[in-house]
Amino acid sequence: MSITAYGALRSHGAGTLGTADVGATVTVAGWVQSRRDHGGVAFLDLRDRSGLVQVVADPEASEALEAAHRVRTEWVVRVTGTVRARPEGMVNDKLATGAIEVAATAIEVLSEADTPPFPIEDGIEVSEEVRLKHRYVDLRRPRLARNLRTRAQVVSVIRQVMERHGFIDVETPQLTRPTPEGARDFLVPARLQPGTSYALPQSPQLFKQLLMVAGIERYYQIARCFRDENLRADRQPEFTQLDLELSFADEEDVYGLMEELFAEVWREVLDVELPLPFPRLTFGESMRRFGTDKPDLRYGLELAHLDEVFADTQVGVFKGVLDAGGSVVALAVPGGSELTRREFDNWTEWAKRRGAKGLAWAVVEAPSGGSDVPALRSPLTKHMSDAEVAGVIATCEAEVGDAIFFGAGTTRFARALMGALRVELAQDRGLVQTSGPDGGEWRFVWIVEPPMFDPADESDDPTAATAQGWVPNHHPFTSPAPEFIDDFEQRPGEATTRAYDIVLNGVELASGSVRIHDAELQRRVFRFLGVSDEAAEEKFGFLLRGFGYGVPPHCGIAPGLDRIVMLLTGEDSIREVIAFPKTQSGGDPMTEAPAPYDEVSLRDLGLRLAPKPASG
Ligand code: AMO
Repeated sequence: MSITAYGALRSHGAGTLGTADVGATVTVAGWVQSRRDHGGVAFLDLRDRSGLVQVVADPEASEALEAAHRVRTEWVVRVTGTVRARPEGMVNDKLATGAIEVAATAIEVLSEADTPPFPIEDGIEVSEEVRLKHRYVDLRRPRLARNLRTRAQVVSVIRQVMERHGFIDVETPQLTRPTPEGARDFLVPARLQPGTSYALPQSPQLFKQLLMVAGIERYYQIARCFRDENLRADRQPEFTQLDLELSFADEEDVYGLMEELFAEVWREVLDVELPLPFPRLTFGESMRRFGTDKPDLRYGLELAHLDEVFADTQVGVFKGVLDAGGSVVALAVPGGSELTRREFDNWTEWAKRRGAKGLAWAVVEAPSGGSDVPALRSPLTKHMSDAEVAGVIATCEAEVGDAIFFGAGTTRFARALMGALRVELAQDRGLVQTSGPDGGEWRFVWIVEPPMFDPADESDDPTAATAQGWVPNHHPFTSPAPEFIDDFEQRPGEATTRAYDIVLNGVELASGSVRIHDAELQRRVFRFLGVSDEAAEEKFGFLLRGFGYGVPPHCGIAPGLDRIVMLLTGEDSIREVIAFPKTQSGGDPMTEAPAPYDEVSLRDLGLRLAPKPASG
């Protein structure tokens, strides 16, 4: 016997029935989406994963009618009956099965149901807490069910592409030692070795590199990763990567593979042809033009640098910042002169909430008084020279009717501020529509040549405290660019690496790099990061020893599966594409995880809880 198409309990899927089945006796089963009871005749909309079909119970089948009177929404029932064409005028064009109905001869209740906490329909406003508490009900809604199907489809396409190119799927441990990826570890106390713990992997990074030492050459895994970090719409404490690594290869192999993979996923899932190759932007250029290393290229609004324009300025705020070595960064908003005074004030408040002292603005007006240069109307203009006005307008490529915003501070801060403003303004001005299954633009870009290190004081990397001023921009296994291999220690602020990211519509989808495959260079990177040879030996000795047994040059990348599916489905949070996600505070309202320790496990593990710090 082989498995039946719809399970032995039924003959058809509810949503598969059509006029071709008229006259057939069928058995369908599923949930009661809705019930309309007219006394003498009752209608049930029966839902299973294939769709909905209308069931009619009338007095000719009195037991079925009896059962139909009794059932309530979300009860699970099994219906046997005859498919018949709906009477003229009763055809429902909105429903795939709307031309037919099942005239029930028997209705069997398989499970009664409590009243659902919310209706099983899309577009219903329900708090996330309630949705997640009853996630099994939430997942019955068409949108979420579709998201899970899309996710499965993406994984299936990924596997086909990877296998086509000779990658083999290898599992790596979940109970392991810490793998540094810039977040805190989740620790698992080890009962058999009291006083020790495993860490859940932040990624399979070290194991995949050791698989290259092992001669696997092309590895991939749909890998679960764990990171204890602050959560956001695109961050969960456990998430999934397509993790991969390849030997005897370089950046170009990774670029080619990823472009083929994304093109195939977009073709299969959305029927969209992505233009290839993806453009490449250096990290430096991305920061200069967009104020971020995750630029959304669906709209312009590029940043303009005004340091030269204001080199000799008398505008106090700008002069102070420039004298201190900072920058003035501007952003022209097409048509922005229609913003009201109040809106400008709101943007200023927005900037202050992000730590700016203020946000200057100006409106470009038509030339007047015999001049042929447009004028700037702004609280600042009275201190600006004509040359500065002309310089601002030219550098911002602004036109009459535009608004210009100015951010000032350290170069890093001013760019980040204006980069964030760019994203907010694009939303606010309606310059960008959500891309998703119904269309929209897909602007992939490679971000390359990132810095080797970031200043530790600007990082939330938990290793920053011991990092002697610098933390890795990617991870410490990333190869410096060839010109920095000999002396990155002397110029850590300049050094770049052979790392690369894929960014799509402002979301970082993937990160990877060509790796260090020389134990001594790896030790130098650790030493520079404040990890002594002894500590490196203790934490990463297994990797370094592995390198001692013959390691091929290798590189890899890890696209985040949750984020890919989020973008494909047009969702704005990865929680919508994960079956059982955690809330923003890392909890699961359904299982109520995490749960307090119980005494027995604590004793088994040899743990004692410190008293809670008194709340002040
Ligand atoms: P990285 O840390 O940049 O690189 O992660 C790669 C990709 O994983 C996804 N991602 C996340 N998705 C959801 N929630 C999170 N908390 C989260 N953190 C990361 C993102 C990101 O681009 N080992 C390296 C890869 C490599 O070098 O090959 C790594 O993990 O889409």
